[in-house]
Amino acid sequence: MTNRDTRKHLLLLSLLAACAALSACGGGGHDEGAEQRSSSAGLPEGRIEAGERQANAKGEATGQSCIDCHGADGNAPLDPTYPKLGGQYADYLGHALQQYRNGNREHALMSNQAQGLTDQQIADLAAYFGSRPAQIVDLQGAH
Ligand code: HEC
Repeated sequence: MTNRDTRKHLLLLSLLAACAALSACGGGGHDEGAEQRSSSAGLPEGRIEAGERQANAKGEATGQSCIDCHGADGNAPLDPTYPKLGGQYADYLGHALQQYRNGNREHALMSNQAQGLTDQQIADLAAYFGSRPAQIVDLQGAH
């Protein structure tokens, strides 16, 4: 084997290892024994319609719905300091909700909103808000 062949061989091996680690090859990231996970946030597949219903439902903890604070499509927040959710990456939204739920991210208004949510509800809410028109912007001109 020449040096070049060895390098090719090593490259191929590391690609194979990376594929195996990501479970990304061969279609669909099926972990053995685990139910199907669709997102990088490790959540089940989100359903937009179920998410829309959930987003409008008054929560037991506060009597408020997501839409009450984040506004129609998640794009008309009650207060200008509240984040817009419409068109945000669903995985980002799902991850944020998981973080509020498990206490890694804390906020007086948001933490209890996420408390009782199941993984499926989080995935649905994330899919719904992620599917709305985006008004999120970068920070160009902000400084
Ligand atoms: C009482 C008002 C209120 C309600 C009700 C509410 N939110 Fe929030 N939400 C906020 C505020 C304020 C923030 C910003 C908190 C922070 O800075 O961490 C926020 C942040 C978020 C974020 C993080 C966004 C980002 O850009 O990082 C997500 C996702 C989110 N809310 C989703 C929801 C969902 C889904 C619901 C319904 C289950 C909901 N919110 C209900 C006020 C609310």
